[in-house]
Amino acid sequence: MEDKNIVVSGMRPTGRLHLGNYFGALSNFVKLQNEHKCFFFVADLHALTTAYDRTENLALNSKQMVIDWLAAGLDPKKCTIFVQSHVPEVSELATLLGMFTPLGWLLRNPTYKEQLNELIKKKYAGQEDKGAAQKIAMLAEQDLNEMASFGFLGYPVLMATDILIHKATYVPVGQDQIAHLEIARDIVRRFSDIYKSDALLEPKPLLTKIPKVPGLDGRKMSKSYGNTIELGEDLESVRKKVMAMFTDPNKKKANDPANPDGCAVFAFHKIYNKDFAKKEADCRAGACGCVACKKELFELMAVEIDAFNKRREAFAKDEAYLQQILKEGALKARESAAKTLSEVKKVMNIL
Ligand code: ADP
Ligand code: TRP
Repeated sequence: MEDKNIVVSGMRPTGRLHLGNYFGALSNFVKLQNEHKCFFFVADLHALTTAYDRTENLALNSKQMVIDWLAAGLDPKKCTIFVQSHVPEVSELATLLGMFTPLGWLLRNPTYKEQLNELIKKKYAGQEDKGAAQKIAMLAEQDLNEMASFGFLGYPVLMATDILIHKATYVPVGQDQIAHLEIARDIVRRFSDIYKSDALLEPKPLLTKIPKVPGLDGRKMSKSYGNTIELGEDLESVRKKVMAMFTDPNKKKANDPANPDGCAVFAFHKIYNKDFAKKEADCRAGACGCVACKKELFELMAVEIDAFNKRREAFAKDEAYLQQILKEGALKARESAAKTLSEVKKVMNIL
């Protein structure tokens, strides 16, 4: 029987991808391209919702992202790879969906306030030590209204559009995107209710086995926390980062028994080491020192990272191939997007 499932996902080109992006989402893209019809895109418009005044690296980051995807194993023969802004139908449908999306849903979006706080922290970085915490807090309150642009508040509407425009059944993302996906589902229900139409479908999230990859410090790996290992990072730099990783602070000597829960090194053994159960037992029994444990982890990571970096270098040299992929991808994505857009316009009685 023909597979009717459609998969859509995107990532914002706000910097280089990291292992959190890889194990939380990208590894799933690679698997899903063999199973369903897939659309994967560089969410450059979403990057603009926060970095509208720092666009100098936007085009480069977009290219780097596609190179990482190819090195990770995405194959343009098996899936459609494109840049969001190359599909103008997305912006048009987003305008229409925005007409009936209640403001309250967007203001309640948990990532809205979280990201806004990050923006404000960045703006006032370095001023915290001047005893001006209160003043900063006041300014921050004013900034909330100044910095939160229309586009930023509308982030979930645009994200819903990316998904709904291709009638996606599944959306592979990390844990942190679940709230956004819930808004997409709410938008579909509201659309169906108002226009009595089934032109839009409710998508479901797909998580990987590691939906929240920890960073070097044990918090969620994220660009904004500066705790990442980037895709394409050179081995020496990865080695230094692994050797400096956060471990159980109560373990003082190499042969002290320790608790691997919450240890970043162990979290990565779980990803890279087939025999992580033994590692866990050894750690609890005090049979393995942290330095040795880190060295072992690095050796395991190095094999995969080295192979990835070699593939990456080859793709990075072929600009023409990259352009061709994005051109063909945009054509295919536009064709799929145009169909849904015209259905929606029809049910909304647009002439
Ligand atoms: P960042 O937090 O570094 O800015 P993005 O928000 O651009 O990353 O994430 C792109 C994709 O990668 C999303 O699907 C997101 O859920 C996933 N992702 C990001 N960080 C992690 C992580 N630490 N663990 C699992 N998935 C992640
Ligand atoms: N919001 C996602 C992120 O920060 C990126 C994104 C934009 C996305 N549109 C999407 C993910 C559609 C899945 C489907 O990572």
